[in-house]
Amino acid sequence: MSVALEKGLLRVCATADVPLGEGRPVTVGDRRVAVFHTESGWYALDDSCPHRGGPLSDGILADRCVACPLHDRRFGLADGAALTDGAAVAAHRVIVRGEGVHLEIAEELEQAA
Ligand code: FES
Repeated sequence: MSVALEKGLLRVCATADVPLGEGRPVTVGDRRVAVFHTESGWYALDDSCPHRGGPLSDGILADRCVACPLHDRRFGLADGAALTDGAAVAAHRVIVRGEGVHLEIAEELEQAA
């Protein structure tokens, strides 16, 4: 069955590609995005930590945030806010339809590490 998508939504992976409690990187154009599947829902943030580029898709998920695997800076999953120190990351809207995970890509953030 085909599903009409809202303008600007891109299918980036299947729900089965991201196990519960984990993140996975996807590529949208020249941008890497981390898609997270949590008990509270699906989230997506730019995958590159603004500190030194750590892959947030490999980070530890807890309490609606992700901790960078390199130096433990934390970011809110819903809005990409920096919960420790440093810059925020861009958060992207996630829509799950059937078995498809779709993203609406946000604008780039000004980043200062
Ligand atoms: S690269 Fe993410 S905290 Fe340093």
